[in-house]
Amino acid sequence: MTTAILSALPEEQGSLVSALEHPERIEHAARTFWRGRLEGRDVVLALSGIGKVAAATTAAALAERFAVRRMVFTGVAGGVGDGVQVGDVVVARSYLQHDMDASPIFPRWQVPGYGEARMDCDAALSALIFEAAGCFLATAGGTFALKDAAARPPRVHQGLVASGDRFVSTAAESQRLRGDLLAAGHDVLAVEMEGAAVAQVCRDHGLPFAAVRTISDRADDSAHVDFPHFVRHVAGPCADAIVHGFLRLL
Ligand code: ADE
Repeated sequence: MTTAILSALPEEQGSLVSALEHPERIEHAARTFWRGRLEGRDVVLALSGIGKVAAATTAAALAERFAVRRMVFTGVAGGVGDGVQVGDVVVARSYLQHDMDASPIFPRWQVPGYGEARMDCDAALSALIFEAAGCFLATAGGTFALKDAAARPPRVHQGLVASGDRFVSTAAESQRLRGDLLAAGHDVLAVEMEGAAVAQVCRDHGLPFAAVRTISDRADDSAHVDFPHFVRHVAGPCADAIVHGFLRLL
C-alpha cells in the first residue's frame, strides 16, 4: 500500500529523498516523483509547487499514475488562530478554500458541486500525524523554537486550515480573513496555498488524506521575512522528523 508524501517546496521535503531506500526517479506531468521505501513502507515523494492548481495536478497524478492509497502533505503555513505561534505545528482536521466565492449562486466558500465549504481529513491518518508531531516537539521542539527565551514551548494544534492562491502578508488581511470566516462559523488556525486542493482530489478519489504544517510566520506584516528564514532553516528538519515518525507509527 503506497503512501504519497507531498510538499510544495524542496525545503519542505527536507532530506526525505536522500533517505529513500531503492529510490526510483520518475518524471511525469512536468514534475519529479521519487518512488522508494522509507521506514519499511512503500512511498512516493512529490513536490507540488505552489498554489491550488499545482497541488491538484500533482495529487491527481499520484492517484491515477502512481495508484497511491493515501496522501500526506507536509509543509509550512501562516498561523492566524489565537495562540498559533511560529514553531507550532498544525495538523489539519479539515480544509476550506478561503478564496472560493461563487456567491450569490452558492454560499460564499462553498465548493460548487460538493454542497459544503469544508473537506474533512482522514481521522485515523491525522491521529498518527498528530502523535508523530507531538513526539517530535517533545524531543526536539526546543531546538527549533524561536530563540526568544520568553517564548513558550511549541505546541501541536488540530483544526481547520484554509488554502488560497495568496501569500497572506499583512495583519489587516489576516485579521479580515479570519474574522469573516469566524463570523460564518469557520475557526481557521492557519493559512497556506495547497492543502484544500489536495483534500478535494483525495475526496474525489476516495483516498485518505492528512496534512501537517509547521508555522513559519503569523501571516502578518513580517510574514515575508519570517517565511523564507523558517523555510530555509527549520522546515526540512521538521518534515524529516514528523514523516519518519508517522511512517513508523503506520
Ligand atoms: N505558507 C506559509 N505562510 C503563508 C502565508 N502567510 N500565506 C499563505 N501561505 C503560507
